[in-house]
Amino acid sequence: MSAKLTVDGIEYPLNTEKTLLENLESQAVKVEFHCRDGHCGACRCLLISGQPEYISYPMAYLRDGDVLTCCCTAKDDIKLATYR
Ligand code: FES
Repeated sequence: MSAKLTVDGIEYPLNTEKTLLENLESQAVKVEFHCRDGHCGACRCLLISGQPEYISYPMAYLRDGDVLTCCCTAKDDIKLATYR
């Protein structure tokens, strides 16, 4: 069974080789972003469950439970909520 990326209760297939932001873009999900490099925080989502793996250390301030989707992947199911 393939891994899933769930955002705001909607499931999408998860490509573990792409960032979470790239996964959302490939599914035509409208997401906020700016720098795509972990600096601005625009892509911030709330982690509901799962384990993000950061490709590079995020420079933007992260509150407990925040995920910067531009600079992390996930190897297994992960659930996020957007800050809309
Ligand atoms: S787009 Fe800037 S931190 Fe993700």
